[in-house]
Amino acid sequence: MKVTVKAPANIAFIKYWGKKNEKLRIPANSSISMNLSDAFSVTSVDFDNRLKEDVVKIDDVVSAGGERERVARHLSLVRKMAGKSDYAEVVSKNNFPKASGIASSASGFAALTLAASLAAGLKLSEKDLSILARLGSGSACRSIPDGFVEWRQGSKSEDSFAFSLYPADYWDICDVIAVIGQASKKVSSTEGHTLAESSPFYKTRILGMPQKVKEIKLALRNKDFTRFGEILEAEAVNMHTVMMTSNPPLFYWTPKTLEIILKVIEWRSRGLKVYFTIDAGPNVHIICEEKNVKKLKNNLLMLGDVKEVLINRPAVGARVINLP
Ligand code: PMV
Repeated sequence: MKVTVKAPANIAFIKYWGKKNEKLRIPANSSISMNLSDAFSVTSVDFDNRLKEDVVKIDDVVSAGGERERVARHLSLVRKMAGKSDYAEVVSKNNFPKASGIASSASGFAALTLAASLAAGLKLSEKDLSILARLGSGSACRSIPDGFVEWRQGSKSEDSFAFSLYPADYWDICDVIAVIGQASKKVSSTEGHTLAESSPFYKTRILGMPQKVKEIKLALRNKDFTRFGEILEAEAVNMHTVMMTSNPPLFYWTPKTLEIILKVIEWRSRGLKVYFTIDAGPNVHIICEEKNVKKLKNNLLMLGDVKEVLINRPAVGARVINLP
């Protein structure tokens, strides 16, 4: 039975960088995110006893090597849970550039998890889906529940999962993505996480995380946009400081990234309430309230280097879109 699922990417306001358990992808800290309405993967999974191996197609290209292996490993987890042995055909499409700092692994593995588990006849709870998605890609666990999400780090596999703090319609804030680079990143986040500990600032970062999570949750509860923005922006710089000071160092920013950061700060000083955050790629995510989206978009499009502006509102998590 073929199952098709749509799952959103998510933007983390408090980031996950560094793991307590490498293999199980248990993070060193809890994180807070929002699902994105207009950055998503649509994935179909069909187990078929005529197949000799798993066949994976992402964005119309047949996967090979490590990419195919990672998906096949995930399918094997599902097969094991369902007591099945058939291989599967997986067809996945992203509506945004893969591996460029918009989390294709999050939307991709969230969609794969829900589609594969249903196609294999499993009926997992949201918590179990989140745990399973986490095993494919850490941040994918946050694309299972709806809206504004917390991934509580936990201490073992069974208690490290994400859940919804508020539904998608709770707060009309936006993530306006300034796309400046579309090339796949050189160092994947999976690899990057293992380097985090080599930064002299990593321990200090991790020590401060519980307080930061508490403070941003309070700002979210109070819909205090200024406080919310201040925390998320400082957090992004904090994470990138760890990245840039790891050994070897990771520079996901390009000169264009920094140019936009400085523009965001300048626009804010002139009264436009906007705050930036950046994941493992060059693109800048600018968080603002709905009322400021138009102005922000115009400002961004006036900068020569911005190739595309993607506007995202809060969204629901992974959903089946077609059951034959
Ligand atoms: O899930 P991963 O391994 O792709 O890691 C995601 C890391 C960041 O995007 C940089 C931060 C986050 O919490 O999303």
